[in-house]
Amino acid sequence: MFDLTDHVAIVTGGASGIGRGIAASLSEAGASVIIADVNLEHATATAKELGASAIHVDVTDRTSVQEMYRHVVATHGGFDIVCSNAGVFPNCPLAEMTDEQWEAMFAINTHGTFKVVQEALPYLQERRYGRIVITTSITGSHTGFPGWAHYGASKSAQQGFMRSAALEVARDGITINSVLPGNILTEGLKAQGQEYLDQMTRSVPLHRLGTPRDIGNAAAFLASEEAGFITGQTLIIDGGQLLPETPEAILPPRD
Ligand code: NAI
Repeated sequence: MFDLTDHVAIVTGGASGIGRGIAASLSEAGASVIIADVNLEHATATAKELGASAIHVDVTDRTSVQEMYRHVVATHGGFDIVCSNAGVFPNCPLAEMTDEQWEAMFAINTHGTFKVVQEALPYLQERRYGRIVITTSITGSHTGFPGWAHYGASKSAQQGFMRSAALEVARDGITINSVLPGNILTEGLKAQGQEYLDQMTRSVPLHRLGTPRDIGNAAAFLASEEAGFITGQTLIIDGGQLLPETPEAILPPRD
């Protein structure tokens, strides 16, 4: 439906998982994609597979984010799509959580998004056009899970940030929206263990975990010109996981 030819997109945390799925969908829609990741080796390998470019960025470091944008402008003449996707989700029981663990979670997930979005604004405002898509989560704003008090807080904070930011930049032709993945089979999710994966699969009415491309396709839509009247919104992509009022409301798969 939509064509992203002549658009330039930056995807943070694009080397693997959901970010890789977003980069693949944007690339397939015709955009020039820059995969920006703290792991340059993985970013370079992924970029090669997708026909994209790779750059190092640490979203916790403002100077690194500034350098990323300067480099993209120098090499691609500018950009108009930013996907703030880099994030982590280590599990830790609340009773054992240290200040350092709490702060490290926010440093990447929440403060990283703040820096990535804020530093993009001067470039997008100059163009009077921009599409920003933030990867948040159903965890925090809609659900909870033991061990993810810090993660849920960091992810719902991104959504609070997005709504006010969307209002501030609307007059510049810039939209900011969030994709809220449910359980998406990535390296990060696999690290939660097989028991977690089985438990989550049972809780999805569509009877499967999501794929990175499920999120990528939604992000590519929100990054398109055609989505220009949508801003400050959250799009849940979870296979219906949030819907059932009881576990019995999930009908068994057909034979
Ligand atoms: P992943 O671990 O597979 O990929 C995360 C990527 O971010 C990696 O390439 C990593 O190198 C990069 N990264 C980490 N710290 C960084 C930093 N400081 N600067 C730049 N890049 C950095 O994780 P996954 O599953 O793809 O998660 C991506 C996003 O999706 C995260 O924001 C996560 O919270 C969110 N999410 C994931 C869900 C899932 O089921 N996998 C569910 C809901 C949300």
